[in-house]
Amino acid sequence: MSRLFQNILVTGGAGFIGSNFIRYIFRQESFKGRIINLDKLTYAGFAGSLDDIVSSEISDRYVLEIGDICDSENVSRILKQYNVDCIVHFAAESHVDRSIEGPSVFIQTNILGTFNLLEEARQYWGNRQDVLFHHVSTDEVYGSLGEDGYFMETTAYDPRSPYSASKASSDHLVRSYHHTYGLPYTLSNCSNNYGPYQFPEKLIPLMIENMLEGKPLPVYGDGSNIRDWLYVEDHNAAVWAVITRGGIGSSYNIGGENEWKNIRLVKEICRIMGKLTQKDEEYYLGLITLVKDRPGHDRRYAIDCSVIKKELGWFQSLDFEQGLLETVKWYLENRDWVNIIKSGEYRTWMEKNYQKRSVT
Ligand code: NAD
Ligand code: TYD
Repeated sequence: MSRLFQNILVTGGAGFIGSNFIRYIFRQESFKGRIINLDKLTYAGFAGSLDDIVSSEISDRYVLEIGDICDSENVSRILKQYNVDCIVHFAAESHVDRSIEGPSVFIQTNILGTFNLLEEARQYWGNRQDVLFHHVSTDEVYGSLGEDGYFMETTAYDPRSPYSASKASSDHLVRSYHHTYGLPYTLSNCSNNYGPYQFPEKLIPLMIENMLEGKPLPVYGDGSNIRDWLYVEDHNAAVWAVITRGGIGSSYNIGGENEWKNIRLVKEICRIMGKLTQKDEEYYLGLITLVKDRPGHDRRYAIDCSVIKKELGWFQSLDFEQGLLETVKWYLENRDWVNIIKSGEYRTWMEKNYQKRSVT
């Protein structure tokens, strides 16, 4: 049995994973409803990432609401106005380095914003059980692994950065609303995502862009920290599987089963860039620069995702070599998107096209 929703509120749908998610669900034949994208359009949000949807024949099923998840009156209005029956909560401050520089906004959006959404959902939905709050979270809540071992759904939380601590706190709040008020929820903790439309401050797009500009490729510490990489489309397929078929009150780990030392990954991107551009691999390798380590840099993340595989039949559809190649190609072929972001012009573009109004 699959759950079907009519009016899905996606928060943070102008960001990297959220914009890919909206595109993903519109491709699902079983989904006939409408998506309301609530996004504050922070530095990480670009509404233009969904221009293809806005100018398509399904545009009447997509609504952009520019607003803050911390604004309770606005969230309350949106839930009522669109008769929302499912919330998929992506909106967050998401960059660990920024959380070290300035944690305050992480506490505000990730903790208080999630609390506010939960509270408004509880008020609006009452005791309804035909609704769902899906919370999108990270494997970083589990802390840092040594040489071996994996994060399981049962692993105790041990967040180490202001970012992961704020996400851990929001996870606890979501669960508390289920246990205390009976709010139906599902939750997913995913490993590092990569793919199209990722803001070029995160490792993979940053490296591609620095290579194109001939800038140093800053690798933190000795480059031996390990991350488990998953293609964004596979993450979204997993989220959709959890929303439609996952156990109410359950959390699922999602991962790539694909561990890479940062330095090895950067070298792999150099190899791909050497194949796809005029300059050769050696030129790009020469740009690699070991820099001062990130404070409290988690050593290794690795996810055990056997539960979602077994229970929901989800699996990773794309191997990493292929996914990374596709991603590098996407950044090389979509210079308009990259340039409008990098130049900062996306801010004025959005002010002109979207600011202070909702677009239907
Ligand atoms: P992102 O930074 O690319 O996008 C975040 C979006 O949220 C932006 O569009 C931004 O404008 C919006 N936003 C921020 N604050 C807001 C607020 N107060 N009100 C409304 N909108 C607001 O992030 P992402 O990489 O797409 O991550 C999305 C979610 O997935 C986050 O919750 C993150 O913790 C989680 N996650 C990310 C990864 C990853 O590798 N990127 C992995 C696991 C989980
Ligand atoms: P990032 O993309 O910021 O994701 P997260 O910190 O959430 O895992 O970083 C991925 C890894 O790459 C992480 O171990 C930090 C490292 N890193 C660098 O070495 N150099 C960089 O410039 C960045 C942004 C990250």
